[in-house]
Amino acid sequence: MGLFFNAILISVLALSLAFVSSSKSTDILTTGSSLSSKDVLISKPHGNFTAGFFSVGENAYCFSIWFTELYDHGNYTIVWMANRDRPVNGKNSRLSLLKSGSLVLTDAGQFTVWTSSTQSNSSLQLQLHDNGNLVLSNIEGGNLWQSFNSPTNTLLPGQSLTQNSVLISSRSLTNYSSGFYKLYFGDDNVLSLLYQGPQTAGISWPDPWKHSWENGRYPYNNSKVATLDSWGRFQSSDQFDIITVDYGPGIQRRLTVDFDGNVRVYSLDMASRNWKVTWQSTLQPCTVHGICGENSLCTYAHETGRKCTCAPGYKIKSQKDWAYGCEPDFQLPYNDSNASGFLLLQNVEFYGYDIGFFSNSTLDNCQNLCLNYCSCKGFQFKFDKDKGYYNCYPKASLFNGYRSSGFDFPIYLRLPQSIITSFDQKPLQQTNIKCTVDAASLGRAYQKKGQHGWVKSSLRCTLAVGTFEILCFFTYLFKTRRGSSARIQGYTQVATGFRKFTFAELKKASRNFSAEIGRGGGGIVYKGVLTDNRVAAIKCLNEANQGEAEFLAELSTIGKLNHMNLIKIWGYCVEGKHRLLVYEYMEHGSLAKNLHSNRLDWKKRYDIALGTAKGLAYLHEECLEWVLHCDVKPQNILLDSNYQPKVADFGLSKLLNRGGTDKSTFSRIRGTRGYMAPEWVFNLPITSKVDVYSYGIVVLELLTGRSPVEGHSMEESTSAMEPRRLVTWVKEKMHEANGRASPIAIAKIVDPVINAEFDMARVEILVQVALQCVEEDKDARPTMSQVLDTLLHQESDEY
Ligand SMILES: *[C@@H]1O[C@H](CO)[C@@H](O)[C@H](O)[C@H]1NC(C)=O
Ligand SMILES: *[C@@H]1O[C@H](CO)[C@@H](O)[C@H](O)[C@H]1NC(C)=O
Ligand SMILES: *[C@@H]1O[C@H](CO)[C@@H](O)[C@H](O)[C@H]1NC(C)=O
Ligand SMILES: *[C@@H]1O[C@H](CO)[C@@H](O)[C@H](O)[C@H]1NC(C)=O
Ligand SMILES: *[C@@H]1O[C@H](CO)[C@@H](O)[C@H](O)[C@H]1NC(C)=O
Ligand SMILES: *[C@@H]1O[C@H](CO)[C@@H](O)[C@H](O)[C@H]1NC(C)=O
Ligand SMILES: *[C@@H]1O[C@H](CO)[C@@H](O)[C@H](O)[C@H]1NC(C)=O
Ligand SMILES: *[C@@H]1O[C@H](CO)[C@@H](O)[C@H](O)[C@H]1NC(C)=O
Ligand SMILES: *[C@@H]1O[C@H](CO)[C@@H](O)[C@H](O)[C@H]1NC(C)=O
Repeated sequence: MGLFFNAILISVLALSLAFVSSSKSTDILTTGSSLSSKDVLISKPHGNFTAGFFSVGENAYCFSIWFTELYDHGNYTIVWMANRDRPVNGKNSRLSLLKSGSLVLTDAGQFTVWTSSTQSNSSLQLQLHDNGNLVLSNIEGGNLWQSFNSPTNTLLPGQSLTQNSVLISSRSLTNYSSGFYKLYFGDDNVLSLLYQGPQTAGISWPDPWKHSWENGRYPYNNSKVATLDSWGRFQSSDQFDIITVDYGPGIQRRLTVDFDGNVRVYSLDMASRNWKVTWQSTLQPCTVHGICGENSLCTYAHETGRKCTCAPGYKIKSQKDWAYGCEPDFQLPYNDSNASGFLLLQNVEFYGYDIGFFSNSTLDNCQNLCLNYCSCKGFQFKFDKDKGYYNCYPKASLFNGYRSSGFDFPIYLRLPQSIITSFDQKPLQQTNIKCTVDAASLGRAYQKKGQHGWVKSSLRCTLAVGTFEILCFFTYLFKTRRGSSARIQGYTQVATGFRKFTFAELKKASRNFSAEIGRGGGGIVYKGVLTDNRVAAIKCLNEANQGEAEFLAELSTIGKLNHMNLIKIWGYCVEGKHRLLVYEYMEHGSLAKNLHSNRLDWKKRYDIALGTAKGLAYLHEECLEWVLHCDVKPQNILLDSNYQPKVADFGLSKLLNRGGTDKSTFSRIRGTRGYMAPEWVFNLPITSKVDVYSYGIVVLELLTGRSPVEGHSMEESTSAMEPRRLVTWVKEKMHEANGRASPIAIAKIVDPVINAEFDMARVEILVQVALQCVEEDKDARPTMSQVLDTLLHQESDEY
């Protein structure tokens, strides 16, 4: 069966390739001629772009413009479509330039699905320019129509978004038809992103709850024009003005309103032939409105952006599309107020749709208020710090649900008592872990819920979707109702989605633990080859002082983390005293190993700083705040074959030491001299800011090539105040240049190995960020998300 389908797939691929390569290509279309679905128009003079019929489905084509070269992992990058919502048949469909002067697209030789609506009786020509603009002009050179004036979801350098145009996102990654997000100039002259979904609509960018001036927008210029230039500056008449992180000439760029509601500027990385995000409108994808539909929760996952889950008690409406959200999986007898109760969800906000606002309320009052409204789905209960009392916001609808550790207030969901009780008794059956289907992916078949079936299917689902929501959900269960051991056991069972290895298996894989590749972090690491030929790093933990169930419970947390800048954990082994972890193997080893070679040029170093920030931000973000790393150092940042960093050894503190909250034992294990935050020494509370500190030191080391422990051994240390010599040294160098980074000061700081081939502006930002990260006072340090924010959002005023 599989082979058969593969064969079909391959032949389809071959056919479509043949279609592209054997097509007739021209560079000009004149009055009276036409393009068939097999022909393409190539841009002049360099052929950067191609226009033609692009296959969007089975015998469904859209007349499109795309980059001629394959970028993006071997895919075409579409920049414009004429008929995205009305694809045409592959047979007999044509784009014709009529004698009347009109450009028309006909489906199967019959229906006109699109027209340029132009008129002329002189002779015309249609040409694709090298900037991606398809232009219909007359012989005298006058433009009658151009694709730049009617964009789809992408703006190319030099192309303007005006009051007459709008960028509309695609429906999904694979469905090119019009989606829910529109970037346009509103009546207030402000460039805005509007979500217009099946159930609700609203502006989600810039922040709708702020005045335009608070958002840095100027609403009094009605020229309404926004343009991305080729250097990477995006400027709008409402004074919105940003530059990309790689601001400079000679890079191919595009601005796209993505299907997930984020506006992104991409740069083409010629080395990998992939697009890289160099600016995006929203760093927290969950704050984009409407993203998960009604009655659902959005949680943050850095690489995939977001994950949607139904609120407890609700079930997904359309397996194919999150935009439709979730519907109640229960019936509330609204006439009987005793039949409904409230389920508390910590750190969850549902934005908008309040029935009212009641200040100085008590929890009882608020509950009663909600019970008295039939339509009340729950209420947000917020403490007003300034006033010193609680406010009550009963909700008529649950939209824009968003779980964030940054949001300190709970929501109380109104549910039937019976459901709430069942959450208490058997949380596993009631967690409503639906096999979530991302809008981008196609339908999958799921196993029927059997006795163990559902455990299995949710495991599979966890693996397939790489979830996070399950973890969050269990975190919630764990945090709010630490209960019987039976429940904890269930947790272990479900959440441990990855493979268990036998000791014999790993012994064989590592050839009797012969190839040692590293030491530290609580154990020795060996290289091994698994039976499926994957190369793995196998870590034998020294201290096996916890029971199997506890070990698995902690491990399951770590196993769930899925991010391209975190080492993937493939499995584990628990047998007798043996505790082993199986990780993916990193070709280039640790950053520590590479740092003092001359393999790391400036670009690699910057990518390492950025990637590490991403990995740590993901660790700290949202409900994972409590998974601190606590030992960020160059030895724990591994480099893959492309020198992309992956953070290793996270969460190990939990595996090594059950009493992780006990500071004395905690600090004995965690932290490495030179990278340890002052909190460890002064016995202050340990928060995610310890990782921020260590990150700052690592960045300084990356920049300067100087180790913070020069002259000392790299042994783990428990006592001794860190001299912070590296920090002092960098600060002194900066001070010499009167506090303000000057090129001379920077040149002195930067590792001489880099040979002055670095980007001054970025070095400056990194130095600033790193110095903030290593502030003695933890509250003065930014969070990892803020660090990432700074690195990704370079505001233009820094230039
Ligand atoms: C690009 O194509 C590959 C297969 O060639 C596919 O796996 C991948 O998902 C595509 N990427 C995007 C962004 O469409
Ligand atoms: C060309 O078109 C214009 C109107 O667009 C019309 O007035 C004129 O008579 C036409 N000329 C010819 C030669 O058909
Ligand atoms: C088109 O491609 C050529 C060669 O690759 C490049 O030099 C040129 O800048 C490109 N033109 C545009 C408008 O991108
Ligand atoms: C794309 O999305 C539209 C709108 O939801 C839908 O009508 C259409 O069938 C989808 N196309 C494909 C190929 O899935
Ligand atoms: C309005 O915006 C345009 C385009 O950005 C700019 O050229 C013009 O000077 C602005 N006008 C005012 C009054 O600020
Ligand atoms: C509530 O309404 C249902 C029918 O809608 C009825 O059967 C039930 O007895 C009512 N309960 C109370 C307490 O009024
Ligand atoms: C709800 O319960 C209270 C006390 O438990 C009782 O006094 C009241 O009558 C009940 N209301 C209904 C509608 O059953
Ligand atoms: C809040 O309500 C309580 C009790 O109703 C009252 O004593 C208190 O003064 C109120 N606080 C404010 C600031 O109004
Ligand atoms: C591993 O050690 C055992 C004896 O302890 C030996 O029989 C076996 O051949 C060794 N395997 C390898 C691959 O070295």
